[in-house]
Amino acid sequence: MNIIFLGPPGAGKGTQAQRICSALSIPQISTGDILRRAMKEGTETGLKAKKFIDAGQLVPDEVIIDIVKERLAQDDCGKGYILDGFPRTVPQAEALDTFAKIDCVIELSVDDQVLVNRLSGRRVCLKCGATYHVSMLGEKTTCDVCGEELIQREDDKAETVLNRLKVYHTQTAPLIGYYERKGLLRKVDGDQEVDAICGAILKTLGVRA
Ligand code: AP5
Ligand code: MG
Repeated sequence: MNIIFLGPPGAGKGTQAQRICSALSIPQISTGDILRRAMKEGTETGLKAKKFIDAGQLVPDEVIIDIVKERLAQDDCGKGYILDGFPRTVPQAEALDTFAKIDCVIELSVDDQVLVNRLSGRRVCLKCGATYHVSMLGEKTTCDVCGEELIQREDDKAETVLNRLKVYHTQTAPLIGYYERKGLLRKVDGDQEVDAICGAILKTLGVRA
């Protein structure tokens, strides 16, 4: 099954994609994770993306479309995948239609105020992409999965978060109508316990938990 997770920053796309991907044994394709890894490694793409990401802006469509097209051509995507953070503009969605067949789009909806709280407390592992919230970490500063030191993302600072929310509402939210018109959109309330959301997504996908 080829699935898109759509939703504002902090909606839980990454948290849920990790769980659903391991339940379905399919890869999670997070464009944010790919770009952050490229930035960490100092590649040409990473250098190009940095100024946009740090400002809470989207990187240009032509940069991200080629990355996703190449990634989806890899063998592990043959049995399906979850796109987490792509597409984010109508031109990206139109481009995706030329090289992929999407079966379902899950829209995770959460109020802006809840999102701000979630993002300001988020800590991430740059090595494996695992995501945590300070409220669950206690004294712990390393990743449960791979032992790497956890960090706060540059774009999770308060001012940048507000900018990212603005960008979501103007540039990405039109995709809700785009996929509704194609009959692919399924809404899931993203303001519940993590396990409840995971169960709701599996049910929507027709998978027994
Ligand atoms: P990206 O990394 O995709 O960021 P985002 O869309 O802003 O989404 P987030 O990763 O911030 O949130 P999430 O929904 O994954 O939430 P999470 O599960 O972590 O993109 C970053 C940047 O890269 C963009 O701004 C852009 O510059 C660039 N980019 C990426 N893709 C692009 C594209 N296609 N085109 C152009 N540019 C692109 O959860 C958040 C927090 O909440 C965590 O702390 C988590 O523990 C907690 N949490 C999760 N679920 C719950 C819950 N149910 N209850 C309580 N807490 C919860
Ligand atoms: Mg994410």
